[in-house]
Amino acid sequence: MTKKHSHKNPTHLKTFYFGAPYYPEHWDAETRAQDAERMAAASFNVVRMAEFAWDYLEPEEGTFRFDLFDETIATLGEKDIATILCTPTATPPRWLTYAHPDVLRVNADGARMQHGSRQHACHSSLVFRDYSRNITQAMAKHYADNPHVIGWQTDNELNCHFSECHCDSCQAAFREFLRDKFNNSIDALNAAWGTAFWAQTYRSFNEVITPKVAKPAYPNPAQQLDYFRFISWNVTRFQHEQVEILRAANPGWFVTHNGTFNHIDYRGTFTQDLDFLGQDIYPFFDHDPEHRPSSHAFSLDHARAWSGNFMIPEQQSGPGGQAPYLHDTPEPDEIRRMAVTSIAHGADSIMFFRWRTCRFGAEEYWCGVLDHDNVPRRRYEEYQKLGQELNTLGPEILGTHVRVDVGVAAADMDVYDAHETYPLGLPSPKAMAGLVYTYYFKRGYAVGCVHPSDDLGDLKIYIIPHWALFHPDWLPNLEAYVENGGILVIGARTATKDWNNNVVAETPPGVLYRLAGVKVIEYGRQNAPDKRPLSINFPKLKVSTQHWYEVLDILPHTAAIGRWEGRHLNRKPAVTMKKIGQGAVIYVGTYLTESLLTLFTAIAEEMKGLAPLLEKVPENIQIVVRENDEKCLWFYINDGDRPTNVGGIPRGVNVLTGYPLSQLYLSPKETRIVKLIRE
Ligand code: GAL
Repeated sequence: MTKKHSHKNPTHLKTFYFGAPYYPEHWDAETRAQDAERMAAASFNVVRMAEFAWDYLEPEEGTFRFDLFDETIATLGEKDIATILCTPTATPPRWLTYAHPDVLRVNADGARMQHGSRQHACHSSLVFRDYSRNITQAMAKHYADNPHVIGWQTDNELNCHFSECHCDSCQAAFREFLRDKFNNSIDALNAAWGTAFWAQTYRSFNEVITPKVAKPAYPNPAQQLDYFRFISWNVTRFQHEQVEILRAANPGWFVTHNGTFNHIDYRGTFTQDLDFLGQDIYPFFDHDPEHRPSSHAFSLDHARAWSGNFMIPEQQSGPGGQAPYLHDTPEPDEIRRMAVTSIAHGADSIMFFRWRTCRFGAEEYWCGVLDHDNVPRRRYEEYQKLGQELNTLGPEILGTHVRVDVGVAAADMDVYDAHETYPLGLPSPKAMAGLVYTYYFKRGYAVGCVHPSDDLGDLKIYIIPHWALFHPDWLPNLEAYVENGGILVIGARTATKDWNNNVVAETPPGVLYRLAGVKVIEYGRQNAPDKRPLSINFPKLKVSTQHWYEVLDILPHTAAIGRWEGRHLNRKPAVTMKKIGQGAVIYVGTYLTESLLTLFTAIAEEMKGLAPLLEKVPENIQIVVRENDEKCLWFYINDGDRPTNVGGIPRGVNVLTGYPLSQLYLSPKETRIVKLIRE
């Protein structure tokens, strides 16, 4: 049965899991025994293991050994620490790649990948798929009745390092995908891809090849989008084969995967196959400490938009370092603040990458809970504290979803991939979602990412930044949202491309013109806004624009609320509003900016009572609400360096102490979770 994805779905986990990825294959028996003690003392109730241990588990083809993992699982199990196992297919062993060099991936330059790193094997290789099924089967069979193994992660961060492959197996698999997609009709493919352009007409599927950028010039965008879809289909099939084996071995296991990366449709079968999605979180990839809280929050809310609440199989637990870089070191209490942030935004379980920093290999400076010298220090102490708190907090959180008043359209891989095929030098839909998100985040609104086919019912305003690719099936949901009183903001260029990634034949905004009440009669790129400035005049405001302009023809029942100033555009309609019942559609003939958002927010405030979560949200205080029909939890997080008073908070009790609270004082990096008293 197809599950309906929604940003509001909880994971349905019955336990809040708290722990770390753990690599027993790196450590001796004495250290492992001590590890179990220390994990238990930090209230860990889970570890994740084996995602890179294929060479241990199957040292020679067809010979399996499980002793190390059996022993580790049992030792941890005695301390009530459960295990999530992984299929180890991100790192096939050397005997495999030595015997079958053709399983190695080939990049767009024709270079074959080598053994010695990871993600080097191709998901379309029949040989690799056989080995993947075999190791999965062997592990699943061995652990089917082990009471301490509670679930699985498939592979590890599929497509994290690179997703394109152009090997012979991929050529064959791409054709298989296309034959299926086009019902074996090469004419249908030619029509969909517009192959009349530049003499591309194919006579049979055998002639079709994977597209490569700049070999020598620009490829066909329709072909390229189908290639990205093929990558998603291919990796989904690869994962599906593992999931089937795991589910057959023990239907009680949950199955997840740690994403999220390029060219995988996480709203499609890939996630339908899982119990819930996993999201790995490393906020320190953002090197700007002031921007980091909002980029961290955006990545979480974006992850939730695919299918709902998630597990975090890996969250930053120290400075991350690979050969070319080393992150800032998290300051005292920062790890805990980030953990609470992740939980606030939808994590129903969390693990910290990783238990102990490894002294060897490509990630010897990727620091974990414990340092190289195995001495527990402040990071470990922070986990101990957090672990204790989660014993109380965990059960309260499960089953709740994150409140969203302001929705920004995000999380559609087709839309993102279509942009990648033809960016025109414009910011991507995801970057623009980030801009909108950050605007509201900084001002203390309950903002979240929501797909246009999702439940929009709770939203006071819904903003679709600039989704050139647009599926007509989303239209009725948007119409219903507006008819029921919602405010919909549609950014320029939306719905200008069809699902094949070709430009629509209708006047823009294509299928949205009736709902928006406008037609775009001229558009243009703003390449040098400093030399040829344009602005839009609103009754009380003038806003300068960037990137793009559109001149709008207004249909009946629609009003221009902003008009162009500059060049040949003077007084021409730029922004419109069409009221429908209690709701409204605002069409914006340019790229969104903070000033424009301020204006639309004022409209939503007047029409819908949209407001920040508190009348006055102090600077650097992040507020997130998780709720369900029974309860409402407010997370207050001090992201700043100053102690801060938060006034005017709704009445509630501190979840951890049970004491009533009506005002708050938060030290730097301090967090507080308050359960509201419902009158
Ligand atoms: C993740 C990956 C881990 C580790 C970590 C730190 O992307 O799943 O295996 O590499 O990043 O780089």
